[in-house]
Amino acid sequence: MSVHKIAFLPGDGIGQEVTPEARRALEVVGKATGASFEFELGLVGGSAIDATGGPLPDAALRLCQQADAILFGSVGGPKWDNLPQEVRPERGLLRIRKELDLFANLRPAKCFPMLVDASPLKRSVVEGTDLMVIRELTAGLYFGEPRGREALPGGGEKAINTMSYTTREIERVVRAAFDVAMKRKKRLASVDKSNVLIVSQLWRDTVNRLAKEYPQVQVEHVLVDNCAMALIHKPTHFDTLVTENTFGDILSDEAAILAGSMGMLPSASLGGKVGLYEPVHGTAPDIAGKGIANPIAAILSAAMLLRYSLDRGSDADRVEGAVLRVLEQGHRTADIRGTADKALGTQQMGDLICRQIERSY
Ligand code: IPM
Ligand code: MG
Repeated sequence: MSVHKIAFLPGDGIGQEVTPEARRALEVVGKATGASFEFELGLVGGSAIDATGGPLPDAALRLCQQADAILFGSVGGPKWDNLPQEVRPERGLLRIRKELDLFANLRPAKCFPMLVDASPLKRSVVEGTDLMVIRELTAGLYFGEPRGREALPGGGEKAINTMSYTTREIERVVRAAFDVAMKRKKRLASVDKSNVLIVSQLWRDTVNRLAKEYPQVQVEHVLVDNCAMALIHKPTHFDTLVTENTFGDILSDEAAILAGSMGMLPSASLGGKVGLYEPVHGTAPDIAGKGIANPIAAILSAAMLLRYSLDRGSDADRVEGAVLRVLEQGHRTADIRGTADKALGTQQMGDLICRQIERSY
């Protein structure tokens, strides 16, 4: 019998509410297939700061390093907003990404047909949208040196972040993107700002060089400002997108709107030995603690975990299928309610999906 060790890091805010639903979905898969999932709790983010003084205790990092996969919630919240950068809750997540070398962040954004009307955008724009955003996750502005803030002799301060990329850092994520594009519609849009940034010129050159190894893939280069516009103007134009860390952070939030709600979007962070799976939404302080958050992004992240870290693609299909069935039946949480008469709570939605997964075996 296979035993899968899962590091369970719900974090803060609605992470505490939705991640247990994703865990439940995996437990249902375990029950049906005989696989055993062992979950071990790790502290991260604000809850780790409160308990230990830092956003990622060594024990949690070790837990992640030794697991088969990481099921992550979200980190941050108003309570910790005034802490200095280096000890904020977000640092915990950034440190895991860096230490585990999770350089490729896959963020699929698909507009489910039954949720077309949940998107604030017109049906004619979003219908048929099916994107995969691949965001570089361990370099660029987030990690570049020098960085810092210093007082200037004449008064005032100077603050620095550095957007830096090496050929190797670009190559490995772009290669991952080509591989993903090959399994999709074989169209890759590389997003940069090469009309201004030197880093983007190296990025573009590298994409062009690698493109020769993937003659089947149709490559286009899109400037990031133009891409931001095209994504809400004609999202169906795109299939697979690849971009650097900060651009990817921004564009993937934008892409979330195309899927109806942030509450629908899963993600996988891959590269090193252990993959990390988290919903794209954050801690949502405005609804945290109310039990109304949409657990679908977390549950779909668990499906990605099954597919990418455990090589259990057919179980992943069942989890994704169960989510679709429940949506088809008209069940909705508040964020995707549209014209549905009743909004379900987090656990109610989790229950329905788990029951549907059970039935699929
Ligand atoms: C994300 C989040 C994180 C990021 C924060 C929480 C550090 O916005 O995963 O998109 O900026 O990468
Ligand atoms: Mg973000």
